Amino acid sequence: MTSAPKQTVTPFLVEAESESGVDYGILMRDFGTQPITDELVARFEKVTGHRAHPLLRRGLYFSHRDLEKVLDCHEKGVPIYLYTGRGPSSDTMHVGHMIPFIFTCYLQKVFNCPLVIQLTDDEKFFWKALELKQARMLARENAKDIIAFGFDITKTFIFQDTEYIKEMYLNICEIQKRVTFSSVKSIFGFTDSTSCGRIAFPAIQAAPSFSSSFVKLLGDKQRYCLIPCAIDQDPYFRMTRDVAPRMNELKPALIHCKFVSGLQGASSKMSSSIPNSAIFLDDTPKKIKAKINGSKSGGGETRELHRQHGATIENDVAYEYLTFFMEDDDELKRIHDEYKAGRLESGEVKKILIDILTPIVQNIQQNRSVVTDEMVDAFMAIRKLDAS
Ligand code: TYM
Ligand code: TRP
Repeated sequence: MTSAPKQTVTPFLVEAESESGVDYGILMRDFGTQPITDELVARFEKVTGHRAHPLLRRGLYFSHRDLEKVLDCHEKGVPIYLYTGRGPSSDTMHVGHMIPFIFTCYLQKVFNCPLVIQLTDDEKFFWKALELKQARMLARENAKDIIAFGFDITKTFIFQDTEYIKEMYLNICEIQKRVTFSSVKSIFGFTDSTSCGRIAFPAIQAAPSFSSSFVKLLGDKQRYCLIPCAIDQDPYFRMTRDVAPRMNELKPALIHCKFVSGLQGASSKMSSSIPNSAIFLDDTPKKIKAKINGSKSGGGETRELHRQHGATIENDVAYEYLTFFMEDDDELKRIHDEYKAGRLESGEVKKILIDILTPIVQNIQQNRSVVTDEMVDAFMAIRKLDAS
């Protein structure tokens, strides 16, 4: 009997033995999350009156916790808010990080609701070889990338933990009191030699899931929270959902996406900490082209073999990126079918991707070039948000 290929998915590491990457079915079972079914997508469209985003239609947002409850709220006109975040470990984000933010931008429009974005500069200080000062500076740099994605300032609050902590501290204490060492050990794999900064941190990522952490921004009425993220972040919110009822708080709902793979292939995710795995938002067109041309291909070994057997599409990074970034469903299907049949070559698929991704990244660079420190301050200002 052969056992299933091994995989590790934690907030700190994503690694799959299989060449075609993480088995998301097994992951949902292990994590205890629910699949996003066609019926749920249909209900989402009906309740919101918006066509499902390509990332949702294509199953790249594939898993959730309590999404139905968010739709129930929207149906009844009960206000909700969105919460997402970024751990500022590098001065530039990569195209994988764009996925939760693109989708959050879409959800903000669909639900017309406030959004809070956490920059965990403290987390990165605890986990990386960074000085606090650097981590704090990287948070502000990453805020510029995030602003360049096009969030509406009247409804969006960006905060860095080392600045906003005081406003959340009561909730952080309440959470910390209720979570044992043995519980974070089993959720996050902590050991006796883990620093207590790391051990205490999960409560800080949990706190923004409760609207009472944002009274000055959202008002003091308790409201439901929806968290879009890639599924590596789920362990934090499993912990959060566990403590919520004991604090008389609402369990946050989640909607999870799959990982954009590293350029070397689907066995690891695109990550700032794996050199050359990532296309960064400040890469030049020349660099983007070289990186894509060097990415792992599922094409046949030789032209002959490729024509005969076609591409192993599950192992092809360029095709995978197209599923995230190409808007046209029909064209994507055509590429899929032609490539699989061996009529389209690996180099041609890479060229299509280069032509799509380069302008997306250039557009963000252009937006970012006009983001000032004053704009960062404005997004970070504590104020009453609209639509709240
Ligand atoms: P971070 O900075 O590692 O990642 C930021 C967001 O991007 C997602 N992500 C990816 N999505 C697709 N493909 C990838 N290759 C990829 N790599 C990362 C992450 O899941 C995340 O949604 N501790 C968090 C910061 C955080 C947070 C949150 C994230 C604080 N509160 C609430 C989501 C929701 C972190 O270090 O994220
Ligand atoms: N790394 C760039 C620099 O040091 C700044 C930067 C960060 C950037 N993220 C970006 C530029 C995204 C363009 C797009 O100058």
